[in-house]
Amino acid sequence: MALRCGRVTAFERAVRPVLFRLGGGDAEKVHEFTLARLAGLGGPARSVLRGRYAVDAPVEVFGVRFPNAVGLAAGMDKNGVALPSWPALGFGFVEVGTVTAKAQPGNDRPRLFRLRDSEAIINRMGFNNAGAAALAARLQELGPLRSSKLGVPLGISLGKSKVTPLEEAVEDYLTSYRLLHPYADYIAVNVSSPNTPGLRTLQDKSAVAELLTALAGDTPVLVKIAPDLTEPAIAELLEVCLSHGAAGVIATNTTLARDGLAAADQPKAAEAGGLSGRPLTEKARKVVHFVHTETGGRLPIIGVGGVMTPDDAARLLDAGASLVQLYSGFIYHGPALVRGAARAAATHRAQASAETR
Ligand SMILES: Cc1cc2nc3c(=O)[nH]c(=O)nc-3n(C[C@H](O)[C@H](O)[C@H](O)COP(=O)(O)O)c2cc1C
Repeated sequence: MALRCGRVTAFERAVRPVLFRLGGGDAEKVHEFTLARLAGLGGPARSVLRGRYAVDAPVEVFGVRFPNAVGLAAGMDKNGVALPSWPALGFGFVEVGTVTAKAQPGNDRPRLFRLRDSEAIINRMGFNNAGAAALAARLQELGPLRSSKLGVPLGISLGKSKVTPLEEAVEDYLTSYRLLHPYADYIAVNVSSPNTPGLRTLQDKSAVAELLTALAGDTPVLVKIAPDLTEPAIAELLEVCLSHGAAGVIATNTTLARDGLAAADQPKAAEAGGLSGRPLTEKARKVVHFVHTETGGRLPIIGVGGVMTPDDAARLLDAGASLVQLYSGFIYHGPALVRGAARAAATHRAQASAETR
């Protein structure tokens, strides 16, 4: 099933070159500029975009109905400033955050790097965000709870504030959870960012058990995992997810590995932080496959990592994901990729259900 984008899209031809040159190539400035433009889009512009990019191919996962299977990954719109624009660009769900209980500036700049020849990104943002209370206020402004106004389900990703010691992590997550869960169709527990010191130790089974117990309630809670965990460590974590009521797993976050980079990008490989995009495609797919096999399909998976073509999305679904998310693919290929991936997901499901008939 080859669904690669054969031709160059308008985004790749006209928009990307301009964006990539803006701000003297400072990737974070471009990010801020683009978010501000998206936040400023009015209803008429959004409805033109919706007509072009929205794909209606509903799917139900962990009791939530998604208009299509392709979502915006966490980190793109941390503070939810451009919320109504994402569904117009074709996304079937949006994950905002990661937010922390306390507002924090994140790491020093520069902290975001494009590795163009590798279709990759390295980031060490460090959970720069306005805090859980600010996001709650914004979501309240947006009107009624949950996705009713947004039109697509909303996931909210929670992380630990940098100043909070690891021993107090659960309370920190709980503070954000209390403020935000009324607005969320699902909560993502981010214990896998490489950019907050010690955070990944919260992937240990006792820490995950404690977190899931503390956050148990009506809102589905998913755990986002790193692609750098060993299979035995993932297996342990999955056991806890299954026994403590997790609604699913988000696989994966960025990697600390530096495999698969083009020669021209080698100088940037030394930048600290998490790598995403094309070099992560295969690694994320393997983790999704492992999670699916290990759990016998009992835990729904949101597959994320290196979806750069519609075919990559189909392969993640083949590996066992029920939904997929994009970040880097959107930076390199724009909304045509969202549409293409959503269509590929719909085709994939139609084929899978024909095969089971
Ligand atoms: C600049 C940047 C910031 C990110 N911030 C977050 C974050 O705050 N929380 C999170 O769970 N993942 C974050 N991620 C990880 C993405 O959500 C995603 O898991 C990862 O980039 C792999 O997907 P991709 O290859 O499609 O980019 C971030 C990724 C990038 C590139």
